Amino acid sequence: MGKQKGVIESKLKETRVFYPSIEFSQKANVDADEYERLKRWSETDWEGFWRYFALKKIDWFKRFDEVFDGSNPPFYKFFVGGKLNVSYNCLDRHVRSWRKNKAAIIWESESGETQVLTYQQLYIEVNKFASVLRTLGVKKGDRVLIYMPMIPEAAIAMLACARIGAIHSVVFGGFSSEALKDRIEDAKPKVIVTADGGFRNGKAVPLKSNVDEAMERVEHRVSYVVVVRHIDRDIHMKPLRDFWYQDLMGDPDYAQIYCEPEHVDSEDPLFILYTSGSTGKPKGIVHSSAGYLLWTMLTMKWVFDIKDEDTFWCTADIGWITGHSYGVYGPLALGATTVMYEGVPTYPTPAKWWELVEKHSINILYTAPTAIRALMRLGNDWVLKHDLSSLRLLGTVGEPINPEAWMWYYQIVGNEKAPIVDTWWQTETGGHMITTVPGAQFTKPGSAGKPLPGIFAEVVDMGGNPINDPDKGGLLVITKPWPSMLRGVWGDDKKYIDVYWARFKDKGYYFAGDGARKDEDGYFWIMGRVDDVLNVSGHRIGTMEVESALVSHEYVAEAAVVGRPDEITGEAIVAFVVLKEGVDKSRHDELVRELRDHVGREIGPIAKPSEIIFTDALPKTRSGKIMRRLLKDIAAGRKIEQDISTLEDVSVLEKLSELRDKLREEMNKGENGNSG
Ligand code: WT7
Repeated sequence: MGKQKGVIESKLKETRVFYPSIEFSQKANVDADEYERLKRWSETDWEGFWRYFALKKIDWFKRFDEVFDGSNPPFYKFFVGGKLNVSYNCLDRHVRSWRKNKAAIIWESESGETQVLTYQQLYIEVNKFASVLRTLGVKKGDRVLIYMPMIPEAAIAMLACARIGAIHSVVFGGFSSEALKDRIEDAKPKVIVTADGGFRNGKAVPLKSNVDEAMERVEHRVSYVVVVRHIDRDIHMKPLRDFWYQDLMGDPDYAQIYCEPEHVDSEDPLFILYTSGSTGKPKGIVHSSAGYLLWTMLTMKWVFDIKDEDTFWCTADIGWITGHSYGVYGPLALGATTVMYEGVPTYPTPAKWWELVEKHSINILYTAPTAIRALMRLGNDWVLKHDLSSLRLLGTVGEPINPEAWMWYYQIVGNEKAPIVDTWWQTETGGHMITTVPGAQFTKPGSAGKPLPGIFAEVVDMGGNPINDPDKGGLLVITKPWPSMLRGVWGDDKKYIDVYWARFKDKGYYFAGDGARKDEDGYFWIMGRVDDVLNVSGHRIGTMEVESALVSHEYVAEAAVVGRPDEITGEAIVAFVVLKEGVDKSRHDELVRELRDHVGREIGPIAKPSEIIFTDALPKTRSGKIMRRLLKDIAAGRKIEQDISTLEDVSVLEKLSELRDKLREEMNKGENGNSG
């Protein structure tokens, strides 16, 4: 592959690499020279780099005194002493500019209804709802739990919280009342914002009744529940506790047209978002205000190459970090137009997404490999029927993308003209960490790319020493703090330290929980989780969480959950279950159904095992540790041979997962050694 002017060249001659077109590079926000400059700057003058961007990108009420405070690791602080408001940065500054009447949110329902909110309209709605929340007694630092479908009111509620300095905690609408209950118990919100229901796959999801169920069983008292009337169904409203959103927003005593934004500290939490780990309970990841805002803005600009004329669509639900950073905060802080779609990719037809791209002339599309693979399987016709020529950049996130899906995305969706950015990051990192900058760097299908300017990542061995052999895998670490990093685990400093910082305590490295390999070009190949966390459809699911859901069923004595490679969802959940004495095993299919439904009720449909295998005992080591590797082999062996992808595909993925399994084993050995 020849060298293209303005783009950094690959050292690896034999690997297939893809360069952006000259046209793309020339218009890109960051070209190769700028990329090199940013990189060098962040390496030589780290504080100056962050100071410059924080001052340039954020509108401050009070400037910060100090860029970084590392005096109490790992409790790092950025932009210390600064005062700002995130909703002000997402709205007020735009309504005072020509963007006042620009579309902020373009919303579409499954049935094809469209609603557009300009910056001015969104500004009014957010001010009104912020004053509603204040009238309901919500103060700075109070928590507000948001359990909503993908409708503009969800974004309005988030921004309204930000406006008054309340900490929002969005719970994915696909989670069950049980999962909701745990999060209410942990975050102790004053108010819950929900809806009478939402639509998914043409079916109504009963959000409000899930809230009711959860509330019946929590000790914490929630003062108010605000309910958006959306699907127009009869639901129960508890007097003096439950209020219709529309009623409050129509009442001038509650909803004022202007709500003074709270001047919050740079380090004040903006939100809590729960994510699975290797224990039975999800952790509440806490994000800051200034550092988080800054990095979502910079990555929107550098990685998504966002321009004012773009229509940007991140398909993630606001219940995930991707929906927070690239559905709401990043695009709005930059005054961009963001698309929000309530529904699934394949309803009412498998062409729904492509219809949306054509209808709204979407320029940048950001989604997950699972969705790409699922749509790919449905055939090219659904895509090719639509004019997708508006697309100029494509992105993926959530799990490694197999080269076959990458090629399909590139050729069929992007018509070989839109570069692909494969962005590695996590709930904890707040924004992109490892990816290519599309106008400056070439891409390699299956590799995320390099750490962004300002981000310092390495692949290390168990002792924290860098691995420079491109054929060897290691653990992925971030070696320097960064502004949008998590600030802690809600209410659990010990967990924060233990999970992320204890492994490489001496070096002060952040441990991401992933394995990775670094090639000759310095490109990172992510191998996936090395802890007991599965990645199903780009979502993290802790094996322990599913196990505790299973053993909470009256029939189950013991359970072990492992992942099995799956063509569409990346990993599929396989559960090995030991039934209690006396349970009638002849009702096999019925038992399977019942246990799957039970997990659905305990966590949510995404956590339902795709296979349950009954066994008389679980294989254990002498110290009583379940031999997960063995179970994994059994689970994988039972896999029915599907028409597997191309040879190239298999070799890359197999190599990576082999390396990862080796790492996992090594880590487990280390742990056994420590405990024994
Ligand atoms: C885990 C984080 C951050 C948004 C979505 C998921 C995996 C994420 C990639 C990628 C390979 C990826 C990692 C990571 N992951 N992006 N581009 N290539 N793996 O957020 O639920 O916090 O999960 O997702 O394993 O640790 P999350």
